[in-house]
Amino acid sequence: MKEIVPSPPPIIRNQFETIRDLFSKNVVPSYGRFELAFSHGTDSHLFDVNGRRYLDLGGGIAVCALGHAHPAITEALVEQSRKLVHTSNFYYHAPQGRLAQALVNLIGPGKIFFCNSGGEANEGLFKLARKFGHDEGRFEVLTTLNSFHGRTLAGIAATGQDKVKKGFEPMVPGFRQVPYNDLNAMRSAISPATAAILIEGIQGEGGVTPASPEYLLGLRALCDEKKLLLLMDSVQCGHFRSGRFQSFQRILEGVPGGDAFLPDGISMAKSLGGGFPMGAFWVRAPYADLLSAGTHGTTYGGSPLACAVGLKVLEVIQREQLEANARNLGEFFKAGLQQLAVRHPDVIQTVRGLGLMVGIELAPDLVKLPGDSTKTPASRLAILLHAEGLLVIPAGTDIIRLLPALNLRPAEAKEGLDILAAVVAKLAA
Ligand SMILES: Cc1ncc(COP(=O)(O)O)c(C=O)c1O
Repeated sequence: MKEIVPSPPPIIRNQFETIRDLFSKNVVPSYGRFELAFSHGTDSHLFDVNGRRYLDLGGGIAVCALGHAHPAITEALVEQSRKLVHTSNFYYHAPQGRLAQALVNLIGPGKIFFCNSGGEANEGLFKLARKFGHDEGRFEVLTTLNSFHGRTLAGIAATGQDKVKKGFEPMVPGFRQVPYNDLNAMRSAISPATAAILIEGIQGEGGVTPASPEYLLGLRALCDEKKLLLLMDSVQCGHFRSGRFQSFQRILEGVPGGDAFLPDGISMAKSLGGGFPMGAFWVRAPYADLLSAGTHGTTYGGSPLACAVGLKVLEVIQREQLEANARNLGEFFKAGLQQLAVRHPDVIQTVRGLGLMVGIELAPDLVKLPGDSTKTPASRLAILLHAEGLLVIPAGTDIIRLLPALNLRPAEAKEGLDILAAVVAKLAA
């Protein structure tokens, strides 16, 4: 076939500056990017345009569940794209139905709506809450301080961090924040207008803070008592990252009454597509038909291509028992980092998290941290780690996160921990 689209001008290899220049001239500067440009990856390694190899413990912010260039994802993309990429949601197709069934089987009786991102999944939950409370004039969603729920207008109104709201006021009405893990604060905040409560099972951007079992069970009882929906944002902490499919399942393991716990809605994204952009939300059975025909939609959500990839990611995770891997390597990281924190309390203050969602809180006044003082300590440490060939994800000003692929190998986890230990020891010296 004759080529009708002209090829883009070739980017000369080894030219980081050329790529950065393309960005500074043509891309909206809404991200503070690191001085790195990647060309390809394999497993848990990424290669920059100069050919340097990095161990990726950031996993594209908890997205690359199977690492980079996993052959099963390539195969699913190729096979499905040969058959059917997109149809619109005017029609039925098998991959969406099968992925919905698989997710329902993993969570509990209910139904799934597919979309394209975490922010869009949360928007769906907000609309569910409004529809639920509408006839009684209830519309408010209570969320928590330090939460993060996406960058849409309702997402920033729901988020419990002022920095995402600044400059975009007035906020969408109907969202209020209370302290996390504080049941009394939530109870006191409920007003006649409240329709739902939304929390993350493990706060991610807010610094990797898990909900306590008492909080989860208490919120469930509170929502039942006050006739509110209990909604959970599992965009970052879901999809086996905690060592169970959902973080609440991990948090409530062995806790009396824990097995019976179910929220009323769950948003998902990130690892769901293993890098292919997709989101979804699950709604518990009694409310699963609230969003009736014509009330909510999206052009691309749940396309045959996205769902074929989602099914493949799930199949590999289950076949290779990656939830056990997440649990084991999570314990390995936490134990090693906790030892480091004991040895160097002037560098690491605390280590927390579950499975392969680990947060390292830096000591306050970490004066020895070199680098650009206009950058946060977390960013400066990330840059020091880049120099040693390790990628991590900053959260807030003084926390770095490890959110690696769920199929990270033990030897790679050790390599990452060794680099962290060497950099921390250098800072403490
Ligand atoms: C807990 C949580 N909710 C929602 C979002 C937004 O997801 P997305 O960036 O896919 O819109 C994120 C993204 O980091 C997140 O961590």
